[in-house]
Amino acid sequence: MKRSLLLLSLIIMITSCAPKESSREVYIIPYPNDIEVFEGTFCVAGSNFYCDPAIDQATQSLITKLYDQVVLISNNTTSNFEVSSKTGRGVIFKLDKTIAPEAYQLRVTEKRVVVKASNLNGFNYAIQTIKQLLPAAIFGSVPAPDADWSIPCLKIDDAPRFGYRGLHLDVSRHFFTVEEVKRYIDVIELHKMNKFHWHLTDDQGWRIEIKKYPKLTEVGANRSGTMILKDWGSNDRVPYGGFYTQEEIKEVVEYAAAKGITIIPEIDLPGHMLAALASYPELGCTGGPYEVWTRWGIADDVLCVGKEETFKFLEGVLDEIVALFPSEYIHIGGDECPKVRWETCPDCQAKIEELGIKDDDKHKAEHYLQSYVTRRMEEYLAKYDRKIIGWDEILEGELAPNATVMSWRGTKGGETAVKMGHDAIMTPYTYYYLDYYQSKDIENEPFGIGGYLPVEVCYSYEPFTEEMTPEDREHILGVQANLWTEYIATFDHLTYMLLPRASALSEVQWCQPEVKDYDRFLRTKEHLASIYEAMGLNYAKHIYQEK
Ligand code: ACM
Ligand code: ZN
Repeated sequence: MKRSLLLLSLIIMITSCAPKESSREVYIIPYPNDIEVFEGTFCVAGSNFYCDPAIDQATQSLITKLYDQVVLISNNTTSNFEVSSKTGRGVIFKLDKTIAPEAYQLRVTEKRVVVKASNLNGFNYAIQTIKQLLPAAIFGSVPAPDADWSIPCLKIDDAPRFGYRGLHLDVSRHFFTVEEVKRYIDVIELHKMNKFHWHLTDDQGWRIEIKKYPKLTEVGANRSGTMILKDWGSNDRVPYGGFYTQEEIKEVVEYAAAKGITIIPEIDLPGHMLAALASYPELGCTGGPYEVWTRWGIADDVLCVGKEETFKFLEGVLDEIVALFPSEYIHIGGDECPKVRWETCPDCQAKIEELGIKDDDKHKAEHYLQSYVTRRMEEYLAKYDRKIIGWDEILEGELAPNATVMSWRGTKGGETAVKMGHDAIMTPYTYYYLDYYQSKDIENEPFGIGGYLPVEVCYSYEPFTEEMTPEDREHILGVQANLWTEYIATFDHLTYMLLPRASALSEVQWCQPEVKDYDRFLRTKEHLASIYEAMGLNYAKHIYQEK
């Protein structure tokens, strides 16, 4: 019995690691910035893994997970995992403090695979690269013992172009469960991104438990219905709601952190606050009553910032946000805040008077009032050693001294911010609003918000302009895509909008300009599709239908 098992596993080892045909092209997205591929292969299935004991526990867990996954999916149990500095034949992970954070080295010869990095992120990017070199089944849970478990001999020295590589998700317009958010984070990990911008509050639903203000979720997480398609006066009258408890938030933060991903929470203020106003109407200029919004768009009712009570509320919310999210950055929104209520509100006008702010030829006094709010939030969060990010509207009036600008209404906001010596994150809607249609044939697409944003356009973005000096360029922290969910109610639809555009985005975030190559990217599409399929993710097929 034992002998026949041994024989069987030998056969598997032989059949599953046949030498590769001599195609030297490797399919990795985002593509490594420095790679050389050689003759020969190394068989990962059945190989021992050696993990340097100097590597921290969290990273060791990721390495162990890779090993377990190889054993499970290759169905080859003949190997061992050792925490040891031995360098035998096998897959060897070594700590190398001289390597930059987030960078990694990968050397594959016929005898061994050697991975070197200095932190969890670097090791995880190496792991993602190795996984993409293996059969796509490694991304799933179905064993594939007959697949080819060899990887080509190669030499990779890789590091990201930008430090901020983000993906955003709106869970207010439509709610996604903890399990779905984790799967979204898996997509972020696959693409070597490191920031998840979680848009947790908006007019249509407050989605995070705040213990000091329980009505935010008792009232603000529920709406009485949702408008139907683009029929603005309609309401399907189907109650809709959902929120994350603080325990669930912690679970997701830990899940992301274990993969080297930081979650940046967004509390959108002082506009996009109807869900909060419905919960605490005294925070509005008119006192309400207000309703959690059942339609999309920009609401005139915003927080009354003439009242000190509003600031106490915001500080109370931020106290809990800061306790839940270790991120250096907290996103305070700032977009699309109409000023009509402030213009006629005695409290807001008294505040304008008290602050001595006036209209000038650039902006109205109410714009400067919003700047005052942003600055107060910045100062409050600074006490916790946190920094703010705001949408590019925070440039209107006076930009808070240390704010990072998220440029969404095109690239101008970001370009202006860096000229002013501020940091910027580029997420122009023309390239990175993934709720836009991927095809002109919209009859055959799920109903959407509009626009037209094919994969190639996502791929084509270059954040640096000729006008930017080297110093300006230093202030471009990176690039992000946003996924707003007004018209996206299911996870399958969500990932259809996300993939493969997030894959295209990842090369803009990771690859140096000379490494980007849309034709090479397209040659990876079949392998990418197999990965999405192994992960059980729905994806758009447009590039698969092209020649
Ligand atoms: C935005 O799209 N309102 C940031
Ligand atoms: Zn007011």
